[in-house]
Amino acid sequence: MSSTTATDAPAGTPTRSGAADPSPALAARYYTDPEVAGIEQRHIFARTWQLAGHESDLPVPGARLVATVAGREVLVVRTEDGSLAAHLNVCRHRGSRLVIAALPDPTKAPATSAHAIRCPYHGWTYRLDGALVGAPEGRAIPCLDRPSLGLYPARVESFLGFVFVNLDTGATPLHEQLADLPEPLRRYLGPELRPVGRHRIHADAEVQRANWKVVVDNYLEGYHVPVAHPGLMRLLDYQRYTVSTGGNFAYYEVPLRDKPSSNLRERAYQWLATPMPGLDPSDRRIWRYLALYPNTLIDFYPDHVLAWKIVPHEVDTASLPGAFYARPGAGPRTRLAQRLNIKIGWITNDEDAELVARVQRGVSTPGWAPGPLSRRELGVGWFADRVRADVDPHLTTAGDTTAGHTTADAPATGDGERDGPA
Ligand code: FES
Ligand SMILES: [Fe+2]
Repeated sequence: MSSTTATDAPAGTPTRSGAADPSPALAARYYTDPEVAGIEQRHIFARTWQLAGHESDLPVPGARLVATVAGREVLVVRTEDGSLAAHLNVCRHRGSRLVIAALPDPTKAPATSAHAIRCPYHGWTYRLDGALVGAPEGRAIPCLDRPSLGLYPARVESFLGFVFVNLDTGATPLHEQLADLPEPLRRYLGPELRPVGRHRIHADAEVQRANWKVVVDNYLEGYHVPVAHPGLMRLLDYQRYTVSTGGNFAYYEVPLRDKPSSNLRERAYQWLATPMPGLDPSDRRIWRYLALYPNTLIDFYPDHVLAWKIVPHEVDTASLPGAFYARPGAGPRTRLAQRLNIKIGWITNDEDAELVARVQRGVSTPGWAPGPLSRRELGVGWFADRVRADVDPHLTTAGDTTAGHTTADAPATGDGERDGPA
């Protein structure tokens, strides 16, 4: 793993022992070409762990949720013995969807509780573990070989309370892929977290007008904060924004500033922010961010956790389902800090939605090629390398996949200067 304190050090000056220069950004084609989007579905989304929900979404045996992964619906259920199982959400008879994905109603019980999965078309019935147990008028169905007609399996794993699914039944377990996760993050997570507010990871969500990777890129760097997020600039100590990359994730830390913000809401948050139960006092003045390849993003605040994912729709649109979580037992002060911080987060989100839509328009400009990345954009280069490794072997049509610049041929610019629109 390489890491850097993303200061404005002169070009060529290592910012910390082991600091690396960023890899080149992705060429325009990756953000605009339907062929790339199709390859991503097969070779990224169908083979990686995809965030589906949280343990709290599946509180009792029979509880179920539906996640869409690489164009397929995956049904995740809590089984009788309390474990999780995942199946494709399609009946083995004539292919009906089994469970209709619907917006959860937080005023009602969190999920349907029933001890079987019954197809709404002809009534074939499956155990929660996917085995076919009954078909109406089964004697009239020649060749009804029940053992071979269980639901198609998918992988499911709960990692620190978050539920992930994987269509690749041979995938390396997620906990092995994330064995080197920074230790502080484990303090924030767990199955005991509870959602704050109405949003859920498995519900419909806001759609942004950008390729999913433009949205991920934007999360992976703080370089745009001074220009694009005045509120964050008042709250965060930008000079001490650090990034570490390597393996399956990029990790960020940024301390909160001591200086009171000129904005009343932000000032109140600075004053009220206290660590949730389970955190250390040292977690009070720091925000942490984690990006799991390819599309899971988790924000770690002293007062709550936000987990979300970026789901491609068309090549130039993506949805951003996610949910806020906190550990039960927080006092009124922390709950008020949560509300203030979530509001601050929505303002940032709206600013980012504009940025990514603008980038999508820009990268669609014929002839555009990416410029060099800053060391503050080390995460963007890490992500670009991962995407190229997964996509490039499968490209069949000609197109420019090379970046316009590398650090070697980057034009000289002033130390720390911005040489273009943010
Ligand atoms: S399609 Fe499911 S029972 Fe017929
Ligand atoms: Fe942003």
